[in-house]
Amino acid sequence: MTQITKICCIGAGYVGGPTMAMIAKKCPHIKVTVVDLNEQRIAAWNDEDVNKIPVYEPGLSEVVAEARGRNLFFSTEVESAIADAQMVFISVNTPTKTYGAGKGQAADLKWIELCARQIARVAKDNKIIVEKSTLPVRTASAIRDILTHTGNGSQFQILSNPEFLAEGTAVEDLDAPDRVLIGGDSTPEGQIAVQALVDVYANWIPRERILTTNVWSSELSKLTANAFLAQRVSSINSLSELCEKTEADITEVAKAIGTDSRIGPKFLKASVGFGGSCFQKDILNLVYIARSYGLQEVADYWEQVIIMNDHQKKRFANQMIRDLYNTVNGKKISFLGWAFKKDTNDTRESAAIYVADHLLYEQAYISVYDPKVLEDQVYADLDYLGSRTQEENRNGVKVVSDPYEACKGAHAIAVLTEWDEFKNYDWQRIYDSMLKPAKIFDGRNLLDTNKLSDIGFIVQAIGKK
Ligand code: NAD
Ligand code: UDX
Repeated sequence: MTQITKICCIGAGYVGGPTMAMIAKKCPHIKVTVVDLNEQRIAAWNDEDVNKIPVYEPGLSEVVAEARGRNLFFSTEVESAIADAQMVFISVNTPTKTYGAGKGQAADLKWIELCARQIARVAKDNKIIVEKSTLPVRTASAIRDILTHTGNGSQFQILSNPEFLAEGTAVEDLDAPDRVLIGGDSTPEGQIAVQALVDVYANWIPRERILTTNVWSSELSKLTANAFLAQRVSSINSLSELCEKTEADITEVAKAIGTDSRIGPKFLKASVGFGGSCFQKDILNLVYIARSYGLQEVADYWEQVIIMNDHQKKRFANQMIRDLYNTVNGKKISFLGWAFKKDTNDTRESAAIYVADHLLYEQAYISVYDPKVLEDQVYADLDYLGSRTQEENRNGVKVVSDPYEACKGAHAIAVLTEWDEFKNYDWQRIYDSMLKPAKIFDGRNLLDTNKLSDIGFIVQAIGKK
């Protein structure tokens, strides 16, 4: 088997949907079927109105519109899609375990194992299985075990092909990635499988950007790439606290550090704390793996990245409380932004959730505006924490669709997501509608502090005096 013409992807989420849409767009000769157990999600991917697809990403609806129905299909018929494909991507969720051994740290591989068993059950011919989900190093050997012991004699090659897209820029990241990583066995069969996947990507990605490694290097590189990125955010955030004490300015410090070509300017933006479905989960997993090999110092080193991030979220909330005269009881606080970063509707692990939770403990009343996050999602995020009853969450938090409404009558505004539109609001109008002194806590260093101060706001931005 060399030329791939039929691909199946299990999991139509934030990774499976966009990655497969891009493959389908760039490879019209390949039929790509994305399957999921979640009927609602598949229905949304198939919605006639392409703007209603379940993942918001700039440019994604255009990519889907081009390929859907031509060579891109979304379906709940998991088994037939697997049976039909020569190459099966596994792109299901791998969240942190919430029970048993490794609770709170290890990756829960339940869904991965289910996929492997399902593939083993339905496969009637040889297939290439591609790990697209982020997985602990050596997961491929577990998948291989399941496939060879429960399969029906079909031969499987297992590749690791982790995804490096970032949400909010998924389409451009997929269109022109820094690199594509493919790990496979060094056996002749393994190398044929690697080449088959290289050939798929080579339809639009320059060959020198397609890196091939052994399976374990590929699996480990994904976890550690995320750990490195998150470490940069925690490093700059740790310095933001020092800046606030010393009158150094974090933006100036970040620029001075980042212009060293050995360090580079990216991922040095101080913030209220990193969020997203990946960073925390992947570092916790790395910490767990290191501990399971007895590498205590390695585990402690990486764990500090998470400890720092938790500290940053908490200290942001505490600073608000302190600056609001040590009580937020009954005070209206407006949240601009709920998503974990701009240009996405994803809220997983968003700092906003934890800041809200902290303020709700202090009996604040929160009004949330986010351009892309729906009301139900905000409540689902708070309910998931289990800090208080659903009714209490709904009494303490209101989600509104108008930013001016969110800010009206508020004692303070917290900027939690760096949505561009926030910069262009009529800030005089907002100031006029707020209680005085009107305070802004800019958790993203997004707004023009001088302009706001001239209007009369008291502004506290991360890493600035
Ligand atoms: P997601 O939760 O958005 O999507 C996963 C989907 O898999 C869900 O829709 C779920 O219903 C489906 N699923 C689970 N088990 C299934 C099964 N047995 N059969 C069919 N469908 C099944 O998750 P995601 O954000 O797309 O992440 C998927 C993987 O990619 C994770 O391992 C994640 O760490 C990794 N990753 C995510 C990102 C990101 O930006 N979100 C980036 C890189 C890598
Ligand atoms: C990350 C990785 O970047 C991506 O390669 C991987 O595939 C998935 O995980 P993602 O979580 O989607 O992507 O977004 P990212 O841009 O990395 O941002 C993560 C968090 O860090 C966000 O909350 C963001 O606001 C925050 N961040 C990022 C900062 O606070 N400062 C920065 O300088 C950069």
